[in-house]
Parts: sequence; C-alpha cells; structure tokens
Amino acid sequence: MPSIAVIGAQWGDEGKGKITDYEAGRADMVVRYQGGSNAGHTIKVGEEVFALHILPSGIVRKGVINVIGNGVIVDLISLDREIAELESRGKNVEGLKISDRANVILNWHRLLDGAEERLRGSKTVGTTGKGIGPCYSDKIARSGIRMGDLLDPELLEERLDTVMPMKLKVMDILGVRLAQNKEELFKELLAYGRKYEKYITDTSVLVNDALDQGKNVLFEGAQGTMLDIDHGTYPFVTSSNCVAGAICTGSGVGPKRVDEIMGVLKAYTTRVGAGPFPTELKDATGEMLMNVGGEFGTTTGRARRCGWLDLLVVEHAARLNGLTQFAVTKLDVMNGLKTVKVAVAYEIDGKKVYHFPGNFKMLERAKPVYEELDGWSGWKEEETMEIVRGGFDALPKEMRQYIGYIEKRSKVPARIISIGKGREETIRR
Ligand code: IMP
Repeated sequence: MPSIAVIGAQWGDEGKGKITDYEAGRADMVVRYQGGSNAGHTIKVGEEVFALHILPSGIVRKGVINVIGNGVIVDLISLDREIAELESRGKNVEGLKISDRANVILNWHRLLDGAEERLRGSKTVGTTGKGIGPCYSDKIARSGIRMGDLLDPELLEERLDTVMPMKLKVMDILGVRLAQNKEELFKELLAYGRKYEKYITDTSVLVNDALDQGKNVLFEGAQGTMLDIDHGTYPFVTSSNCVAGAICTGSGVGPKRVDEIMGVLKAYTTRVGAGPFPTELKDATGEMLMNVGGEFGTTTGRARRCGWLDLLVVEHAARLNGLTQFAVTKLDVMNGLKTVKVAVAYEIDGKKVYHFPGNFKMLERAKPVYEELDGWSGWKEEETMEIVRGGFDALPKEMRQYIGYIEKRSKVPARIISIGKGREETIRR
C-alpha cells in the first residue's frame, strides 16, 4: 500500500477474490476496472462463503469504499441479485460507488453472445454467456448505454432511439428476438437509474481524491493476463484488457498512481473454456488437481482444465504487468505429489521457443519442455494454522524450493503464500 493492484497471472481463477479480500484488510478503497459479471471471485470468511461477480471484493469488509470503475461493464440483473443476497446476509453495501461512464449490459448483449457462439460452430470461444463480447463491442462502436444515461430520461431516450434500431437489425439477421419493446426497456432502465442513483458518480474523481489523501487503494483485476484481449490467447480470450495497463483507462487514474502490482499465481495452471493450453494434463494428475482444487467455475459451474505450471505464461505475465510481487495460491492442492513439473520452454515444429507465442495454431502444436522438481508431502487440515503461525519457514522444504524456483526464473518475489481457502490460511513474507 498505499496503492496496489491484484492481477491474475494466468487464465483467471487464480484466487484473486481471496487475495483481494486478504489485502482489503489494509485497504480504504477497492476498485474494479474491467470485466463484468463473467468474473467469479470467491471469498471465505470463517464458515461463510461469498461468490462475487460484479461487486468488488472489498464489499464484505466494513468501512471499505467499493468502486465499479468506468472500464467495467455492468450487468444490472447480476448487480441487483448480488446486492440483495449480501443484504439478506446482513452486509451493508452503502460504500458502493458506480462510475457514470460504465457501460451497461443489456438483454441484446446476452442474446448476441449466445447467437455468435452458436454461429462459431465447432470453433466456439466458450464464453460465459453473460454478453461480455457484444457489450464491449458496442462500447467501442459507440453504441453503448452508460450508467449515467439511466439518470437522464431525455438522454436515455435519445440513446435508445439511436442504438436500438441497429441492434434489432443485427438480432434479426442472427435469428434472435428481444422480448421487450423500446418503451418497456426505457422504463426498466429508468427504474434501475432511480434505484442506483445514490451509487452512480464520477468515480475517477473519487479514486484520485483517495490517492491524493494517501488512502490505501486496491485495484482488483478480473479474469487474467492470458485472457487479455491483446496479450492473451486470441481469439480464445475475454473482450477486455486484463493487464495492469487497464487500471488507468478503466478507473481514470494516471500510470504513475499504482505503487505495487501483485500477480496472483496459482501453483499449477487451469483454464475454463476453449483455447490452447500447452501444459494441460488429461491424466490422473490433472483429474486430481481438478477434484482436490475444486476446479469448477464460480460463474458457470464448468469443470476447469488443469495442468502443470507454465513458466512461459508466468514470464509473460511478469513482463506485461510489470509485476512487483506474487501471491502464490493453492500450493496445498499439490500436497502429496512425488514430483512436480514446470514448463520452461516449448518445442514447436522442432524449434525451442522461450516466449509465449501469439499464434494459437502454433500453440496447439507446442510440446512443453519440462523441468522436474521434488514434490512435498502434505499435512493434516488441522495443522494448517500451525504452519501459518510458523510462517514461510514452516512450509515443507520442497514447497519452499518450488516457490524459490519460480522466483528465480521470473525475477519476481513471492510475498504471499496461500495454503487454504480461508482468509487466515495465508502467509505474508
Ligand atoms: P467471456 O468473458 O464471457 O466473453 O468469455 C471469454 C473467455 O474467457 C471464455 O473462455 C471464458 O471461460 C473466459 N473467462 C471469462 N471470465 C473468466 C473468469 O473470471 N475466470 C476464468 N475464465 C474466464
């Protein structure tokens, strides 16, 4: 602190929710700056589990201001549901702030997401179906509706009159139908505007003021570096920039305002949806990681593909985000493996490759070159807190070597080690 970013270093699902919540213990403000309710951030506090999609992970902590920045696309149904769920569990969302410039996900985005996926045939992206791609496309095409528009009937009507005829034509061509007419949609959006008026503001001013006052601000990334629209495994990516650069555009702060950039790195690799994954394991070890790691999507429930750690991915993430530290998660899931493998290069068409390629066809042919390290034996669940109290040195020797190996290869120090789902099952170095 004072300002820190928490960014996914792989294909999402690295444990950003847990790490953000852990770091939010020191934060005055948590800011989401990209993505939408395609994200699934799970937080475990004692026996209580919170699955957040659109709300920032600081929302479960008292006294934290939670900002949905302009770079986020807001699913109003999901937002409604999450707020209601939290309130029914006695949580207060008064500290929520939503950017007036954030685009809104509308029903046509969800319909078009499904239609586009169907038309891709066997080459689907495997999207979450939340309308993410079509909504970001509309934003860039200047056909979006923004949160601030919901507060101004005249402006909203003008926007719908401009945008809706185009969307209806596209939907017609793609064979999907909107259940609402313009009047119904207009009324619905105005009602949301009235409901959320107290939260909607110019969040760039808010975030910059907090930084000027020396407050601790945490920027919470969604998805992960390998799902970034430019730097990920295109086209098998999400439709936003997920790398640290997106903090500036997605929350309205200058590039010098982020002090620390923490990459959240799962000790092995997972990905959900289609696309290349060179270190994927389609064997008993992959299945073990999936079952022991509980690798099922928070948003869609889909089983995640699992594999060994890939240092080409780690190096890619360290460079693109300018990572200053790692939080390594889910090391406990690998307990009991005799040896563990780490990819250090790929062999593609007989050539060794050391940097993650941009061509997905090449990636499909990539054969990982592994280094094998000693595995570590586990501990009983009831011993976890004893290890946490003992700190880094209390971890099994081979686990420390594994972490040291990642640090040496990536030149990024691991400052947080997570060895369980709970908030307190975490070691800070
Ligand atoms: P979309 O973001 O719904 O368009 O999906 C595009 C790709 O990103 C698909 O492969 C999704 O599975 C993946 N994806 C989107 N959000 C997340 C996430 O939060 N965690 C992991 N994968 C995600």
